[in-house]
Amino acid sequence: MPKYKPFIYIWVILLGPTVVGCLSIEQMAPSVGPQFESVAIKRDTSMALLESGRQVYLVDCSRCHSVEPIRRYTMTKWQDIIPRMAQKSKLSDSKSAALRAYIVAVNDLSQRESELN
Ligand code: HEC
Repeated sequence: MPKYKPFIYIWVILLGPTVVGCLSIEQMAPSVGPQFESVAIKRDTSMALLESGRQVYLVDCSRCHSVEPIRRYTMTKWQDIIPRMAQKSKLSDSKSAALRAYIVAVNDLSQRESELN
């Protein structure tokens, strides 16, 4: 059995970063799953719009720097960050609206989670 140990280490070294990479994208910008449905209804928006906002965040917003977990900033902070960064990214009005809707939704969700805890 100890004979195989080095192989296990090699797999951990090769696959570890892939697994960690996936986990951290989920933490930066959670994917738009069923948990977003009630938030979308409450905010009168669609799941498709939220998903496109997530894509804007992951693609357009990572051109100059890596993206940070959305939950790191309060909504008040985001109200200041979004217009500033939308301008830097030269986002269209529709992309910027989708991004805002997604960030608001993530914020609603984390608020709801903290109320439950
Ligand atoms: C053209 C390059 C560029 C793009 C594209 C860009 N950023 Fe930035 N971002 C910066 C720079 C430079 C800073 C450092 C602070 C500053 O200059 O305002 C920064 C800082 C930040 C910060 C740190 C907080 C703060 O208040 O400064 C956040 C959060 C952020 N960006 C989010 C985003 C988001 C969301 C998008 C997509 C809409 C985005 N960025 C797109 C250049 C960019």
